[in-house]
Amino acid sequence: MKMWSGRFRQPLDPEFEKWQRSFPYDQRLLPFELAASRAHANALEHAGVLTSKELSEIVKALAEIGQRAESAPEFLNDPEAEDVHHFVEKHLAARIGATGYKLHTGRSRNEQIATDLRLFVRYSIDTLQDLLGDWVESMLARAEAAGSASPPWAMPAYTHLQPAEPVLVAHWLLAYVEMFLRDAGRLADCRRRTNLCPLGSGAVAGATLSLNRQGMAAELGFDGPTANSIDATSDRDFALEFVDVLALLALHLSRWAEEMILFSTAAYGFVELPEAYSTGSSAMPQKKNPDLLELVRGKAARVMGCASTLRTLIKGLPLAYNKDLQETQEPLFDASDAVLGMLPLVTGFMNTVEFNHVRMNQAAQTGFMNAWAAAAYLVERGVPSRLAHEAVGKAVALAVERGSDLQKLPLADLQAIHARFDAGFHSCLELTEVLALHDVAGGTAPRHVKRALQNARERVAGLRPTKEPAIR
Ligand code: ARG
Repeated sequence: MKMWSGRFRQPLDPEFEKWQRSFPYDQRLLPFELAASRAHANALEHAGVLTSKELSEIVKALAEIGQRAESAPEFLNDPEAEDVHHFVEKHLAARIGATGYKLHTGRSRNEQIATDLRLFVRYSIDTLQDLLGDWVESMLARAEAAGSASPPWAMPAYTHLQPAEPVLVAHWLLAYVEMFLRDAGRLADCRRRTNLCPLGSGAVAGATLSLNRQGMAAELGFDGPTANSIDATSDRDFALEFVDVLALLALHLSRWAEEMILFSTAAYGFVELPEAYSTGSSAMPQKKNPDLLELVRGKAARVMGCASTLRTLIKGLPLAYNKDLQETQEPLFDASDAVLGMLPLVTGFMNTVEFNHVRMNQAAQTGFMNAWAAAAYLVERGVPSRLAHEAVGKAVALAVERGSDLQKLPLADLQAIHARFDAGFHSCLELTEVLALHDVAGGTAPRHVKRALQNARERVAGLRPTKEPAIR
C-alpha cells in the first residue's frame, strides 16, 4: 500500500513511478530511519497513542527489519518501495499488521528525511574525524622524523613556483598539517549545528500531537530539538555545509597531491613514488605513474561539483519542503564516500613514500635562495633595506653572468658593488645560517620548527572523537 493513495483515482504512470523513487539510493539511510522510528514510537507511547504492548511489537519489528537487511541484503531489492520511509512502513505492516500503520501517527516523511540526513551527516563526520586523525598523524610523523635528523632536513620553498628560500622539510609538512587541522575544526563546527533533532516538526507546522521532543532528541544522541518546524523540514544547510567542508578538505588533498606529483618528476626528484600506490603504463615499460595522486586531484573536482549541486538545488526553493530536496541525497553521499575513500589511501601513501633528502638538501643550496639572507647581512651592517636589496640584486646578476653562486663571488667584486661587504659575508650564506635567520614564531628556524612540531602533536592528540557514534 502506498503512503498516500487515498486521494488518487488513477494509477501513476509506470515510468514516472519508477523514476521518482529514492529507495535505490536512500536505502543506505535505513539504520537511521529505524532508530528515528523507534524514538517516535516511544514518544507515541508516552503520549498515550500506543499501548505498551503495541510499542514493544513495533520496536521488535523495527529491529527485525534492521537485522534482515544486514543478514540478507537482497531484502533491499524492493521495486515497490518508494523511499526508505515507505519501505519500513510496508515491512512493519507485513510483520505486525495494522499496528504497523499506527507508527505514522502525527508524523510526516518531511521530518523523517530531515532527521535521517542529520544522523547520516553526524555519523559521517565522526567517521571522517577518525580517518582525518590518521592522515594528519602520518604527516606529522614524517615531519617529526625530518625535523629530528641532524642536521634537520632542508628543501627549497617556492613562490610563483620559483625557488624562494630554503626551509626545513618538517616546516613544509607542517603547512599541510595546519590545513587539515583547520578542516577538522570545520567538521566539528558543522557537527554542532547539525546535531539537532527535527522529529516533532511534522510536515511543516509541527506534529499533530503533543510529543516529547526533548525525549526523542535525547534518545537519538542529539543535543536538543530544532527550534522551528518550517525551517527544520526544509533546511539542508547542514548537508551543504558538510559538503562544503568536504570540498575544502578535498581541495587541500588536491594541492598536496599536485605538489607530490611535481616533486616526483625527474626534474625535481624529491619524492620516490611508492610502488604500492602507483601504476605502470601499458605502452611504455619504464613508467611509474602517480595514479593515486592524480585520482585524488580528480576526486576533488567531483566533491566540489557536489557542493555546487547542493547550493544550486537549494537557492531558489520557497519554504518549506519541496520534492527537489530529494536530490540532496546523492551528491551528499557521493561527496562523503569520495572523501572517506581517499583518506586511508593518502595515509598509506604518506607512510610509505620516500623522500630523497640528499637531493632536497642540494636543491636547498642552489638557485640563489640565500639572496635575502645576503641582503639581511648588509642591513645588519647599517645599509637601508632597499639599498641592500639593490646591492645583492647586482651581486646575483654578476653571479648569473659568471655561472657562479653568490657565496663563490670574490670579496673584491662584492666590494665594488657595495663597500659594506666584508669577510664575514660568505659564512652567512651557509644553509644552516640562512635557516636560523628566520628566527620568529611560525618561521623555519630549527628551534621554532621544533616548538611547532610539539604544538602540532598536542593538537593532533585532541582530534580524536571522545565517544562512540550514537547510531551504527
Ligand atoms: N523521499 C523523500 C525525500 O527524500 C522523502 C520525503 C517525502 N516527502 C513528501 N512530502 N513527498 O525527500
